[in-house]
Amino acid sequence: MPDSSHTTTPDTDFYYAGVPDYMTEVYDWAYVNPRNARWLDRNIVVKTLLFCNDQRLMRAYLDEIEPGMRVWQVAHVYGDLVRRAADKVGANGAFHLTDITPVQIEHARKKLAGQPWCQVIRHDAATFVGNGEPYDLICSFHLMHEVPDDKKRQVIDRMLSLLPEHGKLVFVDYHRPAWWQPIRGILKIVNAWLEPFADALWRHEISDFASRPDRFDWQKRTLFGGVYQVVVVRHKDK
Ligand SMILES: C[S@@+](CC[C@H](N)C(=O)[O-])C[C@H]1O[C@@H](n2cnc3c(N)ncnc32)[C@H](O)[C@@H]1O
Repeated sequence: MPDSSHTTTPDTDFYYAGVPDYMTEVYDWAYVNPRNARWLDRNIVVKTLLFCNDQRLMRAYLDEIEPGMRVWQVAHVYGDLVRRAADKVGANGAFHLTDITPVQIEHARKKLAGQPWCQVIRHDAATFVGNGEPYDLICSFHLMHEVPDDKKRQVIDRMLSLLPEHGKLVFVDYHRPAWWQPIRGILKIVNAWLEPFADALWRHEISDFASRPDRFDWQKRTLFGGVYQVVVVRHKDK
């Protein structure tokens, strides 16, 4: 695993204050360290990490957005996804983006500057309450595989608790690849080395992490030989 040590200065104090241990211990190099984040926040990085499936995975989320919706995206994503989501929501809607890490908040604020319908809020998605107005769409784009299982449960329950009767949740994330998928072996190594919380998505459905999955309808489809999943969740018809 890459070395996550960093020298403490007033500047790094700012970037590390309040960041959960799983982020500094496992993902410092990827999301917390401001110098690295500057290099990594590019479309080409997202394309490479997602084995060129970036556009169709993003479309799975963007296609669910209609102009004027109220959307909560639970965490920042590198590249232009948040800008595209906010543009699609448009001035008649609301686009709320939460993230737990200071440098990610900085990047997101730059991307969404000058768009008054967008708010970037530093918050743990697991305890976010919104402003009391319901969201039409709530999206987790590749967050679940990066948080410990307890946090998965808390974030999913929180997303479900903020879902109104007419609303939808969208999860885009990793999944267990089919036995014949050639990159299955590579992903096993990557998970063991860099992504210790991703393995749970190979062994469990996302719905397994919800306290009351029976109250919701979970529609899953997989892509790229099972490497990725898109799960759309709605309240069950009464
Ligand atoms: C969405 S995931 C990864 C997305 C994708 N791999 C990419 O290319 O950006 C990474 C983000 O989740 C954020 N994050 C981690 N735990 C969080 C939490 N509990 N609440 C909100 N954001 C969180 C991190 O700060 C980081 O910005």
